Amino acid sequence: MVNNPFILVGDIPAPYFCDRQQEIARLIKGIHGGENICLVSARRMGKSRLVKHCSSQQEIADNYYFFYVDLLHTSSLRDFAFAFGRCVFDTLQNRGEKFVRQFLSVVQSLTVTMSVDPLSSLPQFGLSLNPDAQPEYTFESIFRYLENADKPCIVCFDEFQQINRYPEKNVEALLRSHIQHMSNAHFIFSGSERHMLEEMFNSSAHPFYNSASYMGLEAIPKDKYIEFACYWFEQYKKHIDADLVHLIYSLAEGNTYTMQRISHELFDILAPEETVNRQMLTQAVNNIIEAETPRYARLLSHVPERQQSLLFAIAKEGRVQKIMSGAFLRKYHLSSSSTVQNAIKHLLEMDLVTQDDKKQFVVEDIFLRMYLNRISEK
Ligand SMILES: Nc1ncnc2c1ncn2[C@@H]1O[C@H](COP(=O)(O)OP(=O)(O)OP(=O)(O)O)[C@@H](O)[C@H]1O
Ligand SMILES: [Mg+2]
Repeated sequence: MVNNPFILVGDIPAPYFCDRQQEIARLIKGIHGGENICLVSARRMGKSRLVKHCSSQQEIADNYYFFYVDLLHTSSLRDFAFAFGRCVFDTLQNRGEKFVRQFLSVVQSLTVTMSVDPLSSLPQFGLSLNPDAQPEYTFESIFRYLENADKPCIVCFDEFQQINRYPEKNVEALLRSHIQHMSNAHFIFSGSERHMLEEMFNSSAHPFYNSASYMGLEAIPKDKYIEFACYWFEQYKKHIDADLVHLIYSLAEGNTYTMQRISHELFDILAPEETVNRQMLTQAVNNIIEAETPRYARLLSHVPERQQSLLFAIAKEGRVQKIMSGAFLRKYHLSSSSTVQNAIKHLLEMDLVTQDDKKQFVVEDIFLRMYLNRISEK
C-alpha cells in the first residue's frame, strides 16, 4: 500500500483512481468506433489522468499503441514536432531496438545523441531534432510512420489549445490536412481553455470544424467521491464520516485536485484509529494555504495594484459575471469600467482569473481564492 492513498503527483495506480467509469466507457467506445475526441474541462478536473488511465485499460493496452503528447510547454511548431517525435520514440524504446530503428529510418529529422552522464560515467541516449529540419516534414514522416504501424494508434495531444500561441499561423490547417487522411490513428485533443477549443472545433471558419466529438468532463459525482474517500480512510484504519467528505466536496466545488489535496492533507494529519473532525478539516486547509503562500505571494507581486483590486473583488464574489456594472464598481471601489476592462484582460492572460461555462469570472484555484480573501480581510 502507498503511504497516502490520495495521490497528488505522477500516475495514479488503478486502485487509487476514483470513479470515471462512464467517461472511460465513453472514451473507449469512441476510440473503438474510430472517433476523434475533444476532451474539455475546467482546470485540474482530471483530464490528463483520465486519458492515461484509459490507455492502461486492458482492451486499449492490448490493441492499440498509445502516445500521450503534452503540449503545455511548447511554443512553436518546431517544439511540437519534437515533442511528438520524442513521445513516439520513448514509447517505442520500451518495445525494443528494432522498432526504434524503423522509426528513425522513417523520421530522418530525428537523431539519437549519446553523451556520458558526468555523475555515473554511463552513456546516456537522447534525441534531437536536426537544426535544419523543417517541422512540416517531421510531422509528415511521423504521421506516415503511425499510418503504417502494425496496430492502430491513439494519439493524445494534451493542452492542444497551445497551438494557438505559436508564431506560425498555419498549424491547425497543417495538422488537419494530415489527420483527415489517417485511417490507422485516432486522436484525443484535450485542454482546459474551453473557449479556445470550442472555437477551434465548433466554428466553421476553423480547419478542425466538425472533426472531433466534443466531450466535457464534469466533477466526479458526490456520492462516488464520498464512497472513495471513506473507503480509503477505513483501509488504513483511519475514519471519516460521510458528512465531512460532503463538506470537502462543497469546499472544493467538486474540483478533483482540490478534493484530493484536502483529503491527502487530512490523511497525513490523522493518527491511526482517529476520526476526522471539523477542526482537523480547518487545519488541513490552513496547512495547504500556508504551504502555497510563498508561491501565491510571488504571483501577486507581479500583479499591478489596479489589477489586484479587481482580483480581490472577484475572489470575494466567488463567481461574477457583470464586472463592469456600476453596482460592482461601487461595491469594490473600482475606478472605472475601462480600467476594469483593461485589468481583466491581463488577469485572464495570466490565468489568475478564468471564465466558467456560464461566462462568469472566477479565481479557479480555490486555495488561491481563500488566500486572497484572507489577506483582503486583514
Ligand atoms: N479519477 C481520479 N482519481 C483520483 N484522483 C484524481 C482523479 N483524476 C484526477 N485526480 C487528481 O486531480 C489532479 C489533477 O488531475 P489532472 O492533472 O488529470 O487534471 P487536468 O484536468 O488534466 O488538469 P490541467 O487542467 O491542470 O491539465 C491529479 O493530480 C490527481 O491528484
Ligand atoms: Mg492536464
